[in-house]
Amino acid sequence: MLITFEGIDGAGKSTQVKKLRKALTDAGRDVLTLREPGGTDVAEKIRDILLESKNDITPVGELLLFSASRAELVQRVVVPALKKNTVVIVDRFYDSTTAYQGYGRGLDGGMLRAINDIATFGLKPDFTFFLDLSPEDALIRKFSEKSIPLAFEDGELDRMEQSGLDFYRRVRNGYLELARLEKERFILLDASESAERLHDRIRKTLGEAGLA
Ligand SMILES: Nc1ncnc2c1ncn2[C@@H]1O[C@H](COP(=O)(O)OP(=O)(O)OP(=O)(O)O)[C@@H](O)[C@H]1O
Ligand SMILES: [Mg+2]
Repeated sequence: MLITFEGIDGAGKSTQVKKLRKALTDAGRDVLTLREPGGTDVAEKIRDILLESKNDITPVGELLLFSASRAELVQRVVVPALKKNTVVIVDRFYDSTTAYQGYGRGLDGGMLRAINDIATFGLKPDFTFFLDLSPEDALIRKFSEKSIPLAFEDGELDRMEQSGLDFYRRVRNGYLELARLEKERFILLDASESAERLHDRIRKTLGEAGLA
């Protein structure tokens, strides 16, 4: 069973991954949690490149680096774990590429589908929990997490944050479109609900599928 979590930065993915890992482990399941990019020695090095130099990487370069990291993770870690009947939970997977590099950065959808397919060896999640939150609310969460004051002026964000918001709006709309296109696997959740309530919804969905 492969479960992925998606959503814009600050939507609450890592919070739900932790809760689900604990719940499934307590229920006696073998659980492996991973987060992208990273998860193998080489993939962690690619993560460092993506994070350290992110402003200097072209959109296509970014796409290929994320995809290289994913290919390493899938072949070396995810597939072997699934073969052992481990429940694998991934914090971001190829839907992030479609949403961020596709809808966000504007790369061609057909090219992304082809590269995603190569990087995952065709592996698809059984369930993808999409935590949907407005970019404004996500930003507030992120900033309050780091105790950075929000730079609101007359109720507006500054230019930098404003351009960031437009990007996140496109990413969010991309996720919403994916949720419409892939109804069987995408579970759309209102991430403005409490973390506990969201966890209960996730458990219920998995319970109905015979897990958790
Ligand atoms: N349902 C929720 N309601 C309110 N606050 C939440 C909720 N879920 C998470 N948070 C808080 O919001 C912040 C961001 O959550 P989290 O780190 O889980 O998001 P994320 O989607 O993993 O972000 P990133 O993409 O940056 O890793 C944290 O401070 C977390 O405690
Ligand atoms: Mg996170």
